[in-house]
Amino acid sequence: MRAILLAGGKGTRLRPLTLHTPKPIVPIFNRPFLTYQLDCVRQVPEITEVVLSLNYQPRRIEHIFGDGAAHGLHIRYAVEPSPLGTGGAIRFAAQHATDTVVVFNGDVLTAIDLAAVIRLHRERRAKATIVLTPVENPAAYGLVEASADGDVRRFLEKPDPNEITCNTINAGIYVLEPETFDRIPADEPYSIERAYFPSLVERGETFVAYIYKGYWIDIGTPEKYQQVHRDIMDGRFLTAPFENPSKGPPVWNADAKVEQGAELEGPCFLDAGVVVKAGAHIRPYTVLGRQCHVERGAEVADSIIWSNSWIGADAAVHGAIAGRNCHIGRNVRVRPGAVLGDKSVATDFTQL
Ligand code: GDD
Ligand code: MG
Repeated sequence: MRAILLAGGKGTRLRPLTLHTPKPIVPIFNRPFLTYQLDCVRQVPEITEVVLSLNYQPRRIEHIFGDGAAHGLHIRYAVEPSPLGTGGAIRFAAQHATDTVVVFNGDVLTAIDLAAVIRLHRERRAKATIVLTPVENPAAYGLVEASADGDVRRFLEKPDPNEITCNTINAGIYVLEPETFDRIPADEPYSIERAYFPSLVERGETFVAYIYKGYWIDIGTPEKYQQVHRDIMDGRFLTAPFENPSKGPPVWNADAKVEQGAELEGPCFLDAGVVVKAGAHIRPYTVLGRQCHVERGAEVADSIIWSNSWIGADAAVHGAIAGRNCHIGRNVRVRPGAVLGDKSVATDFTQL
C-alpha cells in the first residue's frame, strides 16, 4: 500500500519562517515536521511505499529524507512541474497505483490509529474514507457533515460563518480508491476539497467518515506552531523528548551548557550546544534550538527559537518565534506574537 504525504504548499501563513524552510520540514523540537508523520505511517506495516508530493523547495526536503532507509521506509518523490492543487497532486503522486492509497495533508499532527481507519474503509467497501475531527470554529477548515451511519453527506471547504452547520471538519487524512482518480484532470490544478469530495457526495458513492476525538492539530499558522510545542511539553501528544507525561521539568540535551546561576523553569527544551549564561532566565514553554546562546540577565518565555540564534544581555523575549541565526541584541524587547525570519537582527534596545 502507498501513502502520499501532500507537502507541496508554500506555507504562506508561516512566513517568514517558511521562506527558507518549507513547511513540511519546519522543526518541532529537534525534528523536521514530516518525521512525525512518518512515525504515524510506520505503524501500518502494509504501507510499503511513501510518496512525498512536493513542489516548493523540493530539494531541501529530498536531502533530509533521502530514500527513507534511515526512517525504516521506502520514500519516493513526486515533484510537480507546477502546483497542481491537492487533487492534482494526489493523482500525480498516485500514478500507476492500483491498490488503495492513504493520503495525509503534510501539516497535521495526530495520534490517529491509522490501521483502524483503513479497516473501516475496507469493511464499508468505501470509495473514500475521511477522518473527521471536532473543532470549535470550522471556518478555517473543510466542514464535513456525516449521517448517524457514518456516511459523508456534505463537504464544504472554508465555510462562511452562516454556512456552519456542525463542528466536524476534514482532518486531512484520507483512504482512497485509485479507480476514482480518472475524474481528476491530469496536469491542471484541481482541489480534492472543493471538487473531488463534493463529487463523491453528488454521485452517491460510498464516502465514509471516521470520527476521531484524540489529539489533532494543523501546524500551518504561527499560533498553531507554538501551540503544538506547548501541547507536546504538556504531554497532550506523547513524543520524544517529552514521552514521559509527567509535566514540568526542563529537558535539555546532554551537550547544552547551563551555567550555575541561570534559572530554568520547565517545561522547556534546550537542544545540543545551547549555552545559557549565569543570571539568564528560561521560562516555561521555551524551546532553544541547537547552538542558541542566551546572555546574562536575558529572559526568554513561551518562545520558539530556531538554531544558532543569539539573545543578548538583559533582552526579554516573550511569546515569539525566531528563525535560524537571529541576533537579538542587548536590552531588546520582543513582544508576544512576533515572528522573526532567519538572520533577523534586532539592534540593542530595539522594541519589537
Ligand atoms: N503537492 C502539493 N501541491 N501539495 C499541496 C498543494 C499543491 O498544489 N497545495 C497544498 N498542498 C499541501 C500543503 O502543503 C498541505 O500539506 C496540504 O496540501 C493542505 O494544504 P493547506 O494549505 O495546509 O490547506 P488548509 O490547511 O487551508 O486546509 C486543508 O487542511 C485542513 C486540515 O488542516 C483542507 O484539506 C481542509 O479541508 C482541512 O480541514
Ligand atoms: Mg493546513
